[in-house]
Amino acid sequence: MTPARSFLASSIGKKVVMAATGVILFGFVVAHMLGNLQAYLGPAALNHYAETLRSVPALLWAARVVLIVSAALHVWAAYSLTRMNRKARPKAYRMRETRESTLASRTMRWSGGLLLAFIVYHLMHFTFGTPAVHPSFVRGDVYHNFVTGLRVLPVAVFYVAAMFALGFHMYHGVWSMMQTLGLSHPRYDRLRHRFAVAVTVVVVAGNVSFPLAVLAGIIRERSPAVASAATPAPGLPHTGSTDARNR
Ligand code: HEM
Repeated sequence: MTPARSFLASSIGKKVVMAATGVILFGFVVAHMLGNLQAYLGPAALNHYAETLRSVPALLWAARVVLIVSAALHVWAAYSLTRMNRKARPKAYRMRETRESTLASRTMRWSGGLLLAFIVYHLMHFTFGTPAVHPSFVRGDVYHNFVTGLRVLPVAVFYVAAMFALGFHMYHGVWSMMQTLGLSHPRYDRLRHRFAVAVTVVVVAGNVSFPLAVLAGIIRERSPAVASAATPAPGLPHTGSTDARNR
């Protein structure tokens, strides 16, 4: 076996893969939440931001490939570690020791599974605009899709629930990621705990605020005079920028 293969076959190798890909996914989730805050500034700001991200397709696709590969490796490492643990101890403990574990750590597989389901749904909702998932989707008009997508109550409820799963997953993920990467020391554990809680609360609060702000009418569709790339009048074709729309 090559050194790389035997490293990946070991539990420490899998943990390192999980931590390294976790850092990338974590960075994306934080940046994505910060980017979505543009929705509070109105359609021009959010649509301009989305168009800027697409302005260099090679860069966009490079980032997408990194994200897809990271997500796949993250799931692979989690699955393969679980199998290793099961093989090492085929019979469950008669009494589970929970002093060292938290609710978040014990539910990582559940929160991870829910997040995976959310991501598939989310891509069909806001990126592919699958008609059965987002009937009002207009390619290129991210603000319109954002508002019309999140003002459907069951969809908003699902987003909020998924963000709580994200919170649980992120809290334990950030905590153990720092441990695997060697940042664990009794002196810094309090700091590590505070950091994990703080980033989780900020990301979850930011994300949960989006469906709530849409339902409350704080983020809402604007009249075409305010939003140049906004919603068409009923029965009329949409008037947003065609280049973005045709991508
Ligand atoms: C309430 C929370 C969220 C809102 C409102 C939201 C909104 C959006 C919107 C509007 C887009 C389309 C952007 C565009 O086409 O330019 C998008 C894309 C995306 N979102 Fe989210 N998002 C949320 C949470 C998340 C979370 C938690 C994740 C991952 C765990 C995520 C992953 C993605 C991915 C992978 C894309 C596709 C990016 C690409 O074009 O390659 N989103 N999101």
